[in-house]
This record gives sequence, structure tokens and C-alpha cells, in this order.
Amino acid sequence: MTSIQPHKFSGIFNVVEDNRYWLSTRSLVPNQSVYGERIVKSDDGDYRIWTPRRSKLAAAIQKGMKEMPIQPGSRVLYLGASTGTTVSHVSDIVGPTGIVYAVEFSPRVARGLLRLSETRSNIVPIVEDARHPDRYAAFVAGTIDVVYQDVAQPDQARILYENLKSFCTYGAWGVLAIKARSVDSTSKVDDVYRQESALLSQYGIEVQETVRLDPLEKDHAMAVCRVSEALK
Ligand SMILES: C[S@@+](CC[C@H](N)C(=O)[O-])C[C@H]1O[C@@H](n2cnc3c(N)ncnc32)[C@H](O)[C@@H]1O
Repeated sequence: MTSIQPHKFSGIFNVVEDNRYWLSTRSLVPNQSVYGERIVKSDDGDYRIWTPRRSKLAAAIQKGMKEMPIQPGSRVLYLGASTGTTVSHVSDIVGPTGIVYAVEFSPRVARGLLRLSETRSNIVPIVEDARHPDRYAAFVAGTIDVVYQDVAQPDQARILYENLKSFCTYGAWGVLAIKARSVDSTSKVDDVYRQESALLSQYGIEVQETVRLDPLEKDHAMAVCRVSEALK
């Protein structure tokens, strides 16, 4: 027996089978499996199983993230889009009234993202370097509610700051996947998370929660942050 239940976060669902819960999003596009994920059919559409082992955002939700800034209607700037695995679920969540500007700097990797965007009108693919928001500012219309970043770069805090400064105003959200080993390969991971939070705070970005993703993603955490002052 399979049933679909709304998750506590809007736009996300639990597929319930034999007392087991699977995160999922309702697909914007019928009969579309983006990366081989299972589709569960229901009277009101297709639900795509969202596996925490394949997506750090799903892992953060599974690990008890308290606040989910990405919601139906959100305008999202997604940095480090890769082939579009997590982007596709974000596209489902924001739905037809939201938009996902998806930035990926590797042209080879971005091929999958470009194909995905041909099937989903709420994804705008941008093949550019997230370190240089000025290079893609012309493609981003209006302000952004949430910058989601998963680039695994040592200067990830500065990249988030530069993008929030370019596209967002006071109260906007940042969701940052911190790969401790990309920032510092020798320090203890908790020290790296504290160090990154302190750095973001110096930029005027307040970290509201840091969710450790182990064992789903080793030495990773998801930081949920908010622009707490006018960024200079
Ligand atoms: C860990 S993967 C992202 C996985 C993806 N977020 C997902 O969950 O489906 C990191 C991606 O960031 C891209 N990347 C790294 N540095 C970047 C930069 N400076 N600008 C844009 N993309 C970058 C890499 O090419 C890679 O595809």
C-alpha cells in the first residue's frame, strides 16, 4: 500500500510504503525520470523519489533541517548546478510560479543541465563561473529570494557573499553546502564549520543553523543563512 503525505516543508512530500518514508517532489513534467530516480504515480501527478545519498539538500532535510527557504514560488539562484540532479527537485518545489537560475561552469557537465532546462520552463541554465556574478547578472531578472550553493571551493563563503550582494536584499536566504575538506584539509571539521560561520558573519550573513550531513555526505554540512544587514 502506497500513500503520499505532505512533508512539513511546502512543496515536498513523503511517499509512504509499508511504514517506510521516502522524500519526494511532485514532478513538473509527467513521466520524467531525470537521473534514474523512481517515479511513483498518483491521481494528482508523478512523485519523484528524492534520495539523500544523491542530493545534499535532501540529506539536510532528512537530517532535520529546521527551516527550508526554498518554497513554491521562490526565485532561486543555484550555484554549482552540475547535471541538474538537485536542480530538478528544486524546479519541482518552486513550481511554475518560481524560477531557478542554475549556474555551472563546466561546459561538459552543463550539457545535462541544458537538456533538462529544455523540458522545464522554470530553469534558466547559465554556463559561467559563480565567482563572477557580474558575468551573468544580465541573465538574472529581478531580485533573488534564495542563493543555494554547492560548489566545493575553498573560497565558498566569499562566493556566497558576492552573489547575495549582487542579487539579493536584506532578509534573503543563503543555503550553503560546506565541504570541510575543500576549505581546509587538516583542521577538525567542526572547526571548519565554525570558521566558515564566523567568516559569513563578518560579511553580514547570519548563519541560522548548520546541519551536519554525515554519514550521508562525509565531512559536509549545510548552513542555512540570512542576509542580516546591508551588504557592502
Ligand atoms: C558537488 S557538484 C554539485 C552537485 C549538485 N549541486 C547536485 O546536488 O546535483 C559541484 C559542481 O559545482 C561546479 N562548480 C565548481 N566550482 C564552480 C564555480 N566556480 N562556478 C560554477 N560552478 C562550479 C562543478 O563543476 C560541479 O559540477
